[in-house]
Amino acid sequence: MTSESSAIADHFVLDLATLRKPFDWDAAFGGNFRSNEIEVGIGSGYFLSRHGLENPESRILGIDKEGSEVWRSADKLARHGVGNARVLRADALYFLADYVADSAIDVYHIYYSDPWPKTRHHKRRLWRPEIVPLLERTMKPGADLFLKTDVPEYFDVIQGVLGAAAYLELVEDKRIDLEPLAGDHETNFQRKAREKGHPLHWQHWRRKP
Ligand SMILES: C[S@@+](CC[C@H](N)C(=O)[O-])C[C@H]1O[C@@H](n2cnc3c(N)ncnc32)[C@H](O)[C@@H]1O
Repeated sequence: MTSESSAIADHFVLDLATLRKPFDWDAAFGGNFRSNEIEVGIGSGYFLSRHGLENPESRILGIDKEGSEVWRSADKLARHGVGNARVLRADALYFLADYVADSAIDVYHIYYSDPWPKTRHHKRRLWRPEIVPLLERTMKPGADLFLKTDVPEYFDVIQGVLGAAAYLELVEDKRIDLEPLAGDHETNFQRKAREKGHPLHWQHWRRKP
C-alpha cells in the first residue's frame, strides 16, 4: 500500500480506543440509512465489500480481531468505494457486550468462524453459550442472523448453541455445496472449503418479533 492509498483506507477503519459507548452509528457512518448490520470475522473483507456495494441503504460494521485482516479489508473498501462499510479491530464478543446498544442490530453475518478443534481451545470459539444473551440483547425484534460453516462437528455445536435460544427461530437451512445460493458471495474460506470437498452449511435465523 502506498502512503496515499493507506490514508484513503484509514477513512474506513474505526479505532476502538476512541469509540463512545454505546457505539454511535451516526457518528461512524452518517445518518440516513435503513438498517445496521454487523459482520463478525471479516477475513480479507470479500463479503463485506460486495455486500456493502449491493446494499447501499445499510451501514455495515465489519469486525475482526486481527489487525492485518482489518487493514486488508479497509484497502478493499477504499479501492471499491464502499462508503457504507467500516472495519474495526476488536474481539467481537467484547464489542457486542460493551459497545452495542440494546436492539441496535438488524442483521448479523457470521461466516466460517474458526472451529478451534482442540478441546483446550474451545473457549476461543465464537459460537459458545456466551454469545446467546449478547445476540438477544442487541438484535431488533425480527432481526436476521446469517451463518455459514464448513465443519460438520462445529455445525452441530452451533445448532446446540442457537437451538437453546428461545428467542430465535430457524428460517432456512441449506447445504450450499449441493445447491448454490442465488446471489451468494463466496468468501475465501468458502472457495477453499468447496475445493476440498467439505460440506458447506448455510443458515438463516431470525429473532422472533
Ligand atoms: C476462518 S476466518 C473466516 C473469514 C471470512 N469470514 C471468510 O469466510 O473468508 C475467521 C475470521 O474470524 C476472525 N475472528 C475469530 N474470532 C474472532 C473474534 N472473537 N472476534 C473477532 N474476529 C474473530 C479471525 O481473525 C478470522 O479473520
